[in-house]
Amino acid sequence: MQYSQTAKKLTAEEKLKLLVSFGTRISAEIRLDLLLNSIAQQITQILNVGRCIIFLIDEDKQELWSKIVQGKGLAYTEIRMPLKTQGITSHVAQTGETINLHNAYEDPRFSMAIDMVTDFRTHSLLAIPLKNNAGKVLGVFQVLNKADGLPFDHNDEGILLLLSTLASSSIEIATLYQELYGAQLETLYRLAITAEYRDQQDTRSHLKNISIITYLLAGALGMSKHDMEVIKNASPLHDIGKVALADNILLKPGKLTPEEFNKMKEHTIYGGKILEGAKSKILQVAYKMSLYHHEKWNGSGYPKGLKGEEIPLEARIVTVADVFDALCQFRVYKSAWRPEDAYEYILQESGKSFDPRIVAAFKKIYHTIRKLYLPSKATLVQESQEQKSSVPTEQTIRQATQE
Ligand code: C2E
Ligand code: SIN
Ligand code: SIN
Ligand code: FE
Repeated sequence: MQYSQTAKKLTAEEKLKLLVSFGTRISAEIRLDLLLNSIAQQITQILNVGRCIIFLIDEDKQELWSKIVQGKGLAYTEIRMPLKTQGITSHVAQTGETINLHNAYEDPRFSMAIDMVTDFRTHSLLAIPLKNNAGKVLGVFQVLNKADGLPFDHNDEGILLLLSTLASSSIEIATLYQELYGAQLETLYRLAITAEYRDQQDTRSHLKNISIITYLLAGALGMSKHDMEVIKNASPLHDIGKVALADNILLKPGKLTPEEFNKMKEHTIYGGKILEGAKSKILQVAYKMSLYHHEKWNGSGYPKGLKGEEIPLEARIVTVADVFDALCQFRVYKSAWRPEDAYEYILQESGKSFDPRIVAAFKKIYHTIRKLYLPSKATLVQESQEQKSSVPTEQTIRQATQE
C-alpha cells in the first residue's frame, strides 16, 4: 500500500493527536486493503513524508506485495516482487534490519521500478521491518522523501518502529480474515461446481461467466462495490438445487416430457431448502437466487409465478445472466447458440421473461461480456490453478474482458 502526501502539513499538536489516536483508528478496520491504506495515510502525515509504502510478505509465493493507490492508470493494482532479491525491501524483509538512505538513487540496491510506474522521484528513504509479537517479519514499512529535505534521523526511526509495532497485530488479524474469507469463497465456489458438474461440459466457464455477468450487471444498475461483490460470489450457487435431481432427468439427451420438466422445476425448491435461513450475506442472496431464478417478469415462471418486483432483484439479475450463458453453451439437450442470437433473445424477452431495467443494463455491458465468448479467449487468458478454483477477482474480470 502506497500513499503520497497531498494534505496540508500538520502542526506538532495535530501530529501528536494523530499519533495518540493511531491505534484506535486502525483497530477498527478489518479489511486489509482499507487498513493498509489508513496506516499509510496516517504515517505519511505523522512523519511528514512524501510517500509511505507498505509491503507484506506472501509466504506461499515467497513474494513481497503492495497495492498501488496512485499512479499512471494503475490505481489499486497489486505489485509483486520476489522475496529474495538484491533490493532494499528484500534486504529489510530478509534480515529484519533497518535501512536509512539519504539519497536512494545512489544505492545500487535501490530499484526505480516503482518510481517509474507511479511517476515519483525518491530522494531520502527509510525502510524498517514490520514484525509481529513473536518477532517474525511480516513485511516492510517504507517512508520516502522527508519534507524538510534532511535525512531521516533516530527520532523518525523510533516513531516508524513504534507505529509498525502498533499496527502489526491489526495487519495480522486482517490478513487472517482475508485468508478465511478467501477460503470461504473457494468452498462456496466448489460447492457450486458440485451442483453443476453432472449436466455441463464446462461447468467452470459457465459459473465464471455467470459471476462476471452478474457483477457487471449489478455495476451497470448502479449498485455499490460491496453489493456487486456479494452478487458475484452468490450467483454461482443459483442452481445448487440440481444436486437433488435424478440423472435420468438432468442428463436426458433430448426434450423433457411435461412430467420430467415438472420434476426439473423442483431444483428451485431444493435450492431454497438447502440455503434457507443462512447466516451469511452471500448465502442469503444465494437463497433468493436459487429459489427465484426461474421466475419471470410477466408472472409465467416457476416455482411460485411471482410477477415484476415481487421477484427479488438478485434473482432478476441472475436469470438474465443464466439464460444468456445457457444459450451460448452446449447442453445435452441443445447446441450452443451464437452470442449475437442469445443477445437478440434477451432483448426480445424484455418485459416478458426479464425485468426491462435489467435488460437495459445488459445492453450497456454487452460489448464487454461479448469478449468472454470469443473463441480465442481460452488460450489468451492463461489462468493459474488458484484462479481456476475460485470466483473471478476484479483483476481477472478486467483481464478476461479486455480487448
Ligand atoms: P439450463 O440448461 O441451465 O438452462 C437455463 C435456462 O436457460 C432455461 O430454463 C431457459 O430459460 C434457458 N434456455 C436454455 N436453453 C434454451 C433454449 O434452447 N431455448 C430457450 N428459449 N431457452 C433456453 P428452463 O427452461 O426453466 O430450464 C431449466 C433447466 O431444465 C435447464 O437449465 C436444463 O437443465 C433443464 N432443461 C430444460 N429443458 C430441457 C430439455 O429439453 N431437456 C433436458 N434434458 N433438460 C432440460
Ligand atoms: C497474503 O496474504 O500475503 C497475500 C494476500 C494478497 O495477495 O492480497
Ligand atoms: C464496502 O463495504 O466496500 C462499501 C459499503 C457499501 O457501499 O455497501
Ligand atoms: Fe436453474
